[in-house]
Amino acid sequence: MTAQIIDGKQVAADMRAELKDEVAKLKEQGVVPGLGVVLVGEDPASQSYVRAKERACEDIGIYSDDNRLQADISQEDLMALVEKMNNDPKINGILVQLPLPKGLNEAEVLLAIDPAKDVDGFHPMNVGKMVVGEKAFRPCTPHGVIQLLLRSGVTLEGAEVVIVGRSNIVGKPLANMLSQKNATGNATVTVCHTRTKDLAAHTKRADIVIAAAGRPNTVTADMVKEGVVVIDVGVNRVEDATKKRGYRLVGDVDFEAVKEKASFITPVPGGVGPMTITMLLYNTVESAKRAAGLLE
Ligand code: GUN
Repeated sequence: MTAQIIDGKQVAADMRAELKDEVAKLKEQGVVPGLGVVLVGEDPASQSYVRAKERACEDIGIYSDDNRLQADISQEDLMALVEKMNNDPKINGILVQLPLPKGLNEAEVLLAIDPAKDVDGFHPMNVGKMVVGEKAFRPCTPHGVIQLLLRSGVTLEGAEVVIVGRSNIVGKPLANMLSQKNATGNATVTVCHTRTKDLAAHTKRADIVIAAAGRPNTVTADMVKEGVVVIDVGVNRVEDATKKRGYRLVGDVDFEAVKEKASFITPVPGGVGPMTITMLLYNTVESAKRAAGLLE
């Protein structure tokens, strides 16, 4: 079997077109969704994420308040900026790009963001609400993964899902969302990690494998069954002298070999990546609608 490639760029473009229409309609009612973005320091991967977020906001008509700060900013000044955005009615979503440089207290900053503007879904209040099945902002990458599966026609109900990786941003929330008793859940989920004894024994029986370990070749063809659905969340830089920039991006999955066994697979780049920003835009629009009293 050769897999159907799940085109994340296309799914993201479809969803962004829907959002762009929605934003235009909101503007007619005097509502302009706004996103406050905070980037501290010079990390190149973070800089490119943030640039992509700003372009995406501009493209669909979301107001974006961009704050680029020196790596040596004090905790107090960063907290004051978050507080200012909490109180700014033009801002419906606040995004503090992670990781923060050493010396800054990330947990304290995330806790300071108004949960009603926490479009990343990282605030413990939103994490807790999600776990107990209440309405809450869902974190963007896991939500994007679920959208890719659903929009590709993959059945989640009753599926054996194996997630490789237990991060707070991807593995843990994804496991929770996929096991909820609702239309985006109802799967049977196993979370594997660095202490898992026999990773292949788990992945081999999975209907859906989601790789979010942050290491190339974590999932190889001998580790999956024929017809498996594979979602690759990994983004790894590997040296490549043939490229002008000296590296290329690969996921956590041995794409070329695994695609010969899978029924569906996401590429890297062009799979999950474009969905993360799309779900951030989605959450920002939802937040603006709620602030304007257009949602319950
Ligand atoms: N760093 C890597 N991914 C993300 C994300 O989705 N949100 C934030 N805030 N930081 C990140």
